[in-house]
Amino acid sequence: MIDLLTLHKQFLLPHIKEGDTVADFTMGNGHDTLWLSQQVGENGKVYAFDIQAQAIESTSKFLEENSAPKNYTLIHDSHANAKEHIKEKIKAGVFNLGYLPGGDKSITTKRDSTLLAVEAAIELLDKDGIVLIAVYPGHDEGTVEGNLLYEMLSQISRFKLCISQFKIINSPTSPFFYMIESK
Ligand SMILES: C[S@@+](CC[C@H](N)C(=O)[O-])C[C@H]1O[C@@H](n2cnc3c(N)ncnc32)[C@H](O)[C@@H]1O
Repeated sequence: MIDLLTLHKQFLLPHIKEGDTVADFTMGNGHDTLWLSQQVGENGKVYAFDIQAQAIESTSKFLEENSAPKNYTLIHDSHANAKEHIKEKIKAGVFNLGYLPGGDKSITTKRDSTLLAVEAAIELLDKDGIVLIAVYPGHDEGTVEGNLLYEMLSQISRFKLCISQFKIINSPTSPFFYMIESK
């Protein structure tokens, strides 16, 4: 059985290398932040966002416990404000929508800020960059986010970005992801 979130890393790898700048737009407990930090190494930079103080604390601890390179900036703010914090191009951006595993399920990513954040990520994207967005249609807000993202992303010119969707078509409530690649 395909593990979509493992597969998702295989798509990121060809776009990132040591020294690159990348962003984790939904830090949570820091698993993606750690992976990105390890990929770009001491000379790279990782910006990570979350609106919950609990996520910042837990990610900070997780990164230290795992001896992550000191290349990360943990930002306690909405990803919708990403351009106020990131003043350079990014090679990769990762969104893992939904709520913090083991946390308060009512604090989930929301349609309006998600759309603004994805627009910001696209504007920040460098040449040959990638944005991956994992969507969880198993809860109501996740279904709406997935549909609105589809509407927005499918309008973007294919001469500007290559945008694809990966989903298990006979399991409609399983997570799926959108992949945005710059030329
Ligand atoms: C599914 S979790 C992310 C899991 C994370 N990738 C990990 O490795 O643990 C989604 C996270 O998005 C955060 N979030 C919700 N709204 C947000 C927003 N507007 N800006 C940034 N983060 C947000 C939630 O607080 C939650 O921690």
